[in-house]
Amino acid sequence: MEIKITKDYQEMSELAAKEVAKVLAEVKQPVLGLATGSTPVGLYEELSKMELDFSKTVSVNLDEYIGLDGNHPQSYRYFMNEKLFNHINIDKKNTYVPDGSLADSQKAARDYEELLSKLGRIDLQILGIGNNGHIGFNEPDRALSLPTHVVKLEESTIEANARFFDSIDEVPKEAITMGVGSILKAKKIIVLASGKAKASIIKSLVDEYVSTELPASLLKFHPNVLLIIDQAAASLLD
Ligand code: F6R
Repeated sequence: MEIKITKDYQEMSELAAKEVAKVLAEVKQPVLGLATGSTPVGLYEELSKMELDFSKTVSVNLDEYIGLDGNHPQSYRYFMNEKLFNHINIDKKNTYVPDGSLADSQKAARDYEELLSKLGRIDLQILGIGNNGHIGFNEPDRALSLPTHVVKLEESTIEANARFFDSIDEVPKEAITMGVGSILKAKKIIVLASGKAKASIIKSLVDEYVSTELPASLLKFHPNVLLIIDQAAASLLD
């Protein structure tokens, strides 16, 4: 796992944007794996400013809440449209987010995994990391699912995400997420983390053994992972 420490959030976002631009320049029909949350917002702002050509790009998002359709302002589909897709020349037909609005969410998860298989590869996967070490919505547990699956959100994750909703009761309790296996198939993975609140989990990620109780640690099995973190997130590293 290569680590790059940046001065601040802005520099982290710019560095990540350059990595995305490199993939767009090198690959004819790039497949980008994208994340939501606060961390990649700066990256998406950079990408929106850079006037890159996304016309051949396909994107797949990590996860979506169950029970929200794409028009709900807190759905991840809505987030992606607002933060990125509406500002670049990607064809929305080529942007995929798991569908959390279907009655049969198990089927929606299976269909999404099939889509990933059909696409055949993710050239670059962007990840954030939860305070508890989750990636996507793969929460710490004794065992983790490999393919895209339905997951119950941890209380700590519901609390962390409540800031985006009017009340904590409105936060969905379940989500569809790409599994750790789906994520590890990406050719290259970039993990972003910023701010003091992430310092402790970043220290655990770097210093501790691989464990399903810290899902991001499984990324250590991947040969091409770049951790881009700002000084505040790196502040507990030796
Ligand atoms: C988002 C996602 C989550 C977030 C993580 C960090 O699609 O899958 O794993 O990356 O919860 O969220 P922020 O960036 O808000 O700290």
